[in-house]
Amino acid sequence: MVLPPNVRAFLHFASLVAVAAAASITALERAVDPCAAISGQKWVAPSALRACFTSVKVDPTIKENIIEVINKTLAFHTSVNYEFKAPEPFTADVHEDLLGDLDRISKQSYPSDYDLHIDFSRTLKRLDDVTVGSLLKPSLPRKALFLNFLPVPLVLLTETNGAQNVHIAPEAFQVASAEFPDQISVWQNALPGALKGQLASLSGAKVLQINGQDPFVAVNANAQIAGSFQALGTRQNGFFASYNRVATGWSYIMGNFAQQSLPLSDTVILTIVRVNHTLPEIVVLPYRARIGAATVPFTDTASWRANNCVAIDGTNGEDIFDTSSPSANSPNLPLVKFKQQPDIPVAMERKHPVNVMMDTSPPSDIVLPPTLTPALPILSGSQNVTQFFMLKDGKTGVMALGSFSDTNFNNFLLGMLSGLQALKSQGATQLIVDVVRFSSKVDHFHTLTSFFKTNNGGGFICAAHIVGPKSTTVPQAGLDTKARDGPLAMLITTKIVTSNIDPDGELLYNPVNWANASDVFFAPGTNWLQPPVDLTINGRADAFSQRLGEECAASGFPTTPPATALFDPKKVVVVSNGRCASSCSLFSVTMSKEEGAQTVVVGGKVDVQQQYCGTVGGQSTDFSTIDTEVKDFELNHCAVKSTGLKNNTLAPPDLLVNGVQGITWRLAFGVVDPTQPEEWQIRPATLNLPITAATVNNPVAIWESVVQKLLN
Ligand SMILES: *[C@@H]1O[C@H](CO)[C@@H](O)[C@H](O)[C@H]1NC(C)=O
Ligand SMILES: *[C@@H]1O[C@H](CO)[C@@H](O)[C@H](O)[C@H]1NC(C)=O
Ligand SMILES: *[C@@H]1O[C@H](CO)[C@@H](O)[C@H](O)[C@H]1NC(C)=O
Ligand SMILES: *[C@@H]1O[C@H](CO)[C@@H](O)[C@H](O)[C@H]1NC(C)=O
Ligand SMILES: *[C@@H]1O[C@H](CO)[C@@H](O)[C@H](O)[C@H]1NC(C)=O
Repeated sequence: MVLPPNVRAFLHFASLVAVAAAASITALERAVDPCAAISGQKWVAPSALRACFTSVKVDPTIKENIIEVINKTLAFHTSVNYEFKAPEPFTADVHEDLLGDLDRISKQSYPSDYDLHIDFSRTLKRLDDVTVGSLLKPSLPRKALFLNFLPVPLVLLTETNGAQNVHIAPEAFQVASAEFPDQISVWQNALPGALKGQLASLSGAKVLQINGQDPFVAVNANAQIAGSFQALGTRQNGFFASYNRVATGWSYIMGNFAQQSLPLSDTVILTIVRVNHTLPEIVVLPYRARIGAATVPFTDTASWRANNCVAIDGTNGEDIFDTSSPSANSPNLPLVKFKQQPDIPVAMERKHPVNVMMDTSPPSDIVLPPTLTPALPILSGSQNVTQFFMLKDGKTGVMALGSFSDTNFNNFLLGMLSGLQALKSQGATQLIVDVVRFSSKVDHFHTLTSFFKTNNGGGFICAAHIVGPKSTTVPQAGLDTKARDGPLAMLITTKIVTSNIDPDGELLYNPVNWANASDVFFAPGTNWLQPPVDLTINGRADAFSQRLGEECAASGFPTTPPATALFDPKKVVVVSNGRCASSCSLFSVTMSKEEGAQTVVVGGKVDVQQQYCGTVGGQSTDFSTIDTEVKDFELNHCAVKSTGLKNNTLAPPDLLVNGVQGITWRLAFGVVDPTQPEEWQIRPATLNLPITAATVNNPVAIWESVVQKLLN
């Protein structure tokens, strides 16, 4: 073993001797292994974490493997050539030459595996596409090993005169002291002079500077690397704290300033003016990294990598035909770990597919303080991520949606209908749909849905529930889509339609799963990728499938939409902070552009155009699903069952690391311009709702403010 010299580790030498003596590892080995230095600890300094990450050199075989998997998987991603230079109004935001950058990365050398990881991650994030923002990590586990925290989440508040200022969230100390009781003293003691121990007094303070510069220098620097959403305003909003509804309650999102998934920052210098003070004060606070809930324990570099970084069950394609497959519902499946929705049994996922995002961080378990949690009576139909409330005005109903999924899809839809009906019966004549921070908990990449055969999940059905049967909801409430006609996709489809390998329609490319532009399902044996629709996009030749319709109506949902509209769509407002994607976008786009609902972005920068959603996609999937399409496997000593194309040079190899690569597999067509993807069409919010110290992160106060501005 090569022993990297590490001074910091030696500083820990004395304290480590006792620990090392207890373990069967020599003290010297522990002291010089920077990963051993952070093992077994709940909180570490970000510098110690970086020392561990940067101590690992790039493994050329793994680097090449990752590049090959990404490169060959991208042939199935609809948007590669569009994202080379996105149409207006997103041209300035999205212009990534992904294939060129993969080439650059393959030639470039890196001081460490961590540096390579950052280059992969930033490159894919430049697509500003939450679906693709890649989870491929050369050395780091897909989920953050540690999350890097500050106890001072920030918010953007608007004064009565319209001026906007960055503030430490008024609830900051409440949140931090409840979530970090075992670390708060470190921050208390870090405060200078008379402020020592007075962390609570920083709550609500106006932030004049971050690291000596205007706060928006930091906001925009983060927006440059945050990815996930096309619009600048949406990426800016991810810097700040927000809230979300999760199955177990109301959660608090720290924002990218106060929570990083990589140990990027060690300290922050804030110039602040505390509430009821007039003089600026300077405080320096250290970031502290807390071990992730899903991190498998390790003792040193070797066990960290073995336990957390190598390919696991579900990383690569698997046998979807074998229902007894032990891994099918394993909590270790990457899909289960990363999807921003509860695990749905695989059999149900297949029937009721959805379009969801993946995230590097587990759903947040930081709770919204009790003082901010809605205290209104909870109406029937409320369950898990869906909550129904009647506002005190007696006429405004609220449906708060944390995602369009649930462990039980039928229950979710039935609950939604019964909640909307409960609101009606209590006299609601107008409706707020709150999707603030819908399904996206942290802003590092995401994506993916696997196996899914339709894109619409609850999104469109939900729209149909609200507006009733009409030309835009019956027979189909969704948007048309197209898939990419890559060479391997064509080979897969040809194999499926010319052989009898998939009589039950388990494979993604089986025509029986898809409907043509008239919403009629393809007959078995139809080569639906032929003939390709050839296009030139940004000067590059590309090919797509024929226009596809919706498969939604035939999926056997538990209820048909009500016979008449429950709400006048003009009296419906969809509220978010713009960070609404996938199913949430499909819902918001159809509600706004087809039905005329109003949209609100909460607390965006006043001079930046706020889009009410982003990353529309159409249907997402991932590398492992594509791999399943090509992989032969053995079942009871019998081979075959899939297309057997794994050996084709176009097929991605098995991934060696514990990673996921999301792709947009079908791209939705737009509403205003139905000939072009919805993805890069403008979605301006009706209102950018100014947020004050009294309303920030307070859902009921926000809803009342929306009523006052848009529904009176
Ligand atoms: C990606 O694949 C294309 C062929 O499909 C190839 O020309 C290119 O060199 C590959 N890029 C890298 C970085 O391997
Ligand atoms: C600031 O001053 C106002 C008015 O005196 C008072 O109501 C409020 O509690 C003070 N806030 C803090 C954080 O000291
Ligand atoms: C969702 O709600 C249903 C019905 O109340 C319940 O059975 C189920 O366990 C809940 N799921 C989660 C993830 O909380
Ligand atoms: C869809 O398929 C049906 C049945 O084959 C056919 O009548 C219809 O013309 C097709 N629609 C399109 C747009 O191809
Ligand atoms: C793929 O190649 C491997 C190694 O050359 C070989 O063992 C295997 O039989 C091949 N599989 C198919 C389906 O051709």
